[in-house]
Amino acid sequence: MAELSDGKKIIPIAEDASLVEAAEELGVPFSCTEGNCGTCLTRIVTGMENMSPYSEKEKIFGLEQDERLMCQSRILKGRVVIDV
Ligand code: FES
Repeated sequence: MAELSDGKKIIPIAEDASLVEAAEELGVPFSCTEGNCGTCLTRIVTGMENMSPYSEKEKIFGLEQDERLMCQSRILKGRVVIDV
């Protein structure tokens, strides 16, 4: 089991599952959900080591070290806290 949190609410999700639903519940906005628009760009507060490797589309965005696209990334294990 993995967990996505905003530091207040914790949402359990399956490991390596899409984060779109859980992140949306925490208030992350989405648009394309295909890694093209950048709307879901989110800062990871803790747990970056639990995240999937950067996707090809994330690499194109040139994200900062603590940023991920919620529609393109996954949690492989443990808890990840995001800044919403
Ligand atoms: S919603 Fe467009 S990049 Fe994630």
